[in-house]
Amino acid sequence: MSNQRHTVDRARVLGRLDEISRIGALENGGVCRLALAPEETQARARLIGWAQDLGCVVFADAIGNLFLRFGDAGSKEPPVLVGSHLDTQPVGGNFDGVLGVIAALECVEILAAQSDRAFGPVEIAIWCNEEGARFSPTTMGAAVHAGHFPLAAALATTDAGGQSVTASLQQAMTSLCAAGISPAPRDLAANYKAYVELHIEQGPVLEKEGCAIGIVTDIQGLVQYKVEVLGTAGHAGAVPMEGREDALTRARALLADIDKTLAAFEGLRFTVGRLDVAPGSINTIPARAEFTLDVRHPEASILARAAEQIELLCAGAQLTRLIHQTPVPFDKRVATAIESATRRLGLSSRRIVSGATHDAAHVAALCPAGMIFVPCRGGISHNENEYCAPEHVIQGTQVLADTVMALAERRVQ
Ligand code: GLV
Ligand code: MN
Ligand code: MN
Repeated sequence: MSNQRHTVDRARVLGRLDEISRIGALENGGVCRLALAPEETQARARLIGWAQDLGCVVFADAIGNLFLRFGDAGSKEPPVLVGSHLDTQPVGGNFDGVLGVIAALECVEILAAQSDRAFGPVEIAIWCNEEGARFSPTTMGAAVHAGHFPLAAALATTDAGGQSVTASLQQAMTSLCAAGISPAPRDLAANYKAYVELHIEQGPVLEKEGCAIGIVTDIQGLVQYKVEVLGTAGHAGAVPMEGREDALTRARALLADIDKTLAAFEGLRFTVGRLDVAPGSINTIPARAEFTLDVRHPEASILARAAEQIELLCAGAQLTRLIHQTPVPFDKRVATAIESATRRLGLSSRRIVSGATHDAAHVAALCPAGMIFVPCRGGISHNENEYCAPEHVIQGTQVLADTVMALAERRVQ
């Protein structure tokens, strides 16, 4: 690793990752920091504290995305944006999202230590509700910020307990205020010079190939649905099997058809991540079964055909499309900046398509955007065993810092 003054502070980065991992820590080494829950707010406050120590000014938009601006807060100059998210899956790992935020903070640490080069403003973005685990859809905050999802619909969304985004956001902002943090307002769809995000790959490719850095070219497309199947409740012992209107039996048959149909699409990935049965009693025939469907493919036309099939199969059910995001290509100039940084550091790299979606998929509509991937052990993510080795954390952070400096530098004419 380079010994120039812009070298990442290994102990600081790893120490901060460790500190955040204790907020919402679970028994088996994982973490639960659901979007807008007190644990996530606590982690956000910690990040803001570190950033304020470096002179950053805090902004928040109407959906709770945070922007920690380093550089002239009053100027209209579009910043280079760098960040990720601090919310997690209900049983999540310690690198998904938080790595990108801590690494973004390290970029600001490095910028703050420069005296011989001039840089434009840089902002750390902490996106709201990237995971979509508590409130649908996934990447809600970035989607609203980019104008891809209506603000009013996002605010009205409720979690499984019936609490709305509006109420949760109010609670989170009140807690930040109580901690002495009062963000200034930030418009949606603001103007940025570029966006870069560091993330674990969440798949097996980099590790298998022994490759240090993934330069992300595209994010594959994604469709998510909620499907509700109705039946009639009745006594589990008294109602004969013939003539029953069991919602779960109907849902199982529908899922079998969906499985069979979607399996014919090469390269398609589909997941039923949630299945709820109501009233949910051992001796009552289900009156309602609700499941989610998450379907992904790198090619827009194939994804659209799969979506068409799903919608046909679900014609007899209540189908709600939560999100349909076509594949997103990233900016070639940002990819080149990442590649140059990687090459200068002597790290191995490859181009890669992201299997997961990210906030960057939306920010790419506002400014040139790109992502840097680092390997994670076994490609495991959304799992307490998610692990990114310290050398990969530091290598990815260094590539991010060098890329951000290249993008933010004010060149002498
Ligand atoms: C984000 O975690 C995704 O759904 O890809
Ligand atoms: Mn993530
Ligand atoms: Mn995730």
